[in-house]
Amino acid sequence: MAADLTVTIAGVTLKNPVMSASGTFGNGREYEDLIDLTRLGALVTKGVSAVPWEGNPTPRIAETPAGMLNAIGLQNPGIDVFIEREMPFLAALRGKGTRIIVNVCGHSVEEYLTVIDRLRDQPVDLLEINVSCPNVREGAIAFGQDPVMLKEVTEACKEHAAQPIIMKLTPNVTDIRVLARAAEEGGADAISLINTLTGMKIDVEKRRFLLANRTGGLSGPAIHPVAVRMVYEASHAVSIPVIGMGGIASGTDAVEMMLAGAAAVAVGTMTFHEPGAMVRIIDEIAAYAERHGIRQIRELTGAVQG
Ligand SMILES: Cc1cc2nc3c(=O)[nH]c(=O)nc-3n(C[C@H](O)[C@H](O)[C@H](O)COP(=O)(O)O)c2cc1C
Repeated sequence: MAADLTVTIAGVTLKNPVMSASGTFGNGREYEDLIDLTRLGALVTKGVSAVPWEGNPTPRIAETPAGMLNAIGLQNPGIDVFIEREMPFLAALRGKGTRIIVNVCGHSVEEYLTVIDRLRDQPVDLLEINVSCPNVREGAIAFGQDPVMLKEVTEACKEHAAQPIIMKLTPNVTDIRVLARAAEEGGADAISLINTLTGMKIDVEKRRFLLANRTGGLSGPAIHPVAVRMVYEASHAVSIPVIGMGGIASGTDAVEMMLAGAAAVAVGTMTFHEPGAMVRIIDEIAAYAERHGIRQIRELTGAVQG
């Protein structure tokens, strides 16, 4: 008998544990002709802000060994255009059983709350709050790097949200457990990690930075072992579900992330390389379950031995 691949995050059941990582899959429409979107456990949108964001100057992408650096700067048309242009497509996909998770970004608490309020009556299953955004009005430090601010922004988001909230954590901290606990104490229903690791690349011939922004976020297989370690640490620090991401390229990587403590996984950079990666990974997880006689995939969460 085929394994039961369903997993539940904050009361929301996904048909399988695989979702897109925010910002690496557009809002799904671009991939409609390339893959069967209804196979996905959930679709996570690009970051959406209260007003349109232009993003950073180019060049804003650079290749690295086994990964990439990006400094897109969360370019998006803002919540009003998002609801008008993207929601009908996402609602139709949701009607076919793929869960919809909207990723929310902001420069200030008010900006997060504006987006969250606008999404109250939309057909959205979960909100993912990106607290790895660069500067905030209150003190020019990323919300996600300060446990006191993280707890406060989580509380504010939770109070306004109609849907359960996932706080998306940055790995650019000394101790991820402190931030994971702050999110849980603030009322987060789940956490997701890792966002990209800050990096830099220099063209030595021209003696210039490769990215106009100078620094960028490192993603892809190069960061996978760091992500596994952080998911392990975070999941042992909290009792809410953890969504694991960072360099997942195969079913083996996804299973590894679940064994480390993830209830579900997201696939990002690999989709740029292979648009069908998520569907392949779902099939590979199912094959792993069959090979190991696993009846329910959720049994894998945190099941690493020794
Ligand atoms: C081009 C690009 C754009 C991204 N945009 C967002 C975003 O809008 N919001 C967000 O929370 N994370 C964003 N991320 C981070 C990813 O969702 C993910 O956390 C990270 O890339 C690690 O997963 P991966 O190694 O599978 O790509 C972006 C990543 C990339 C590469």
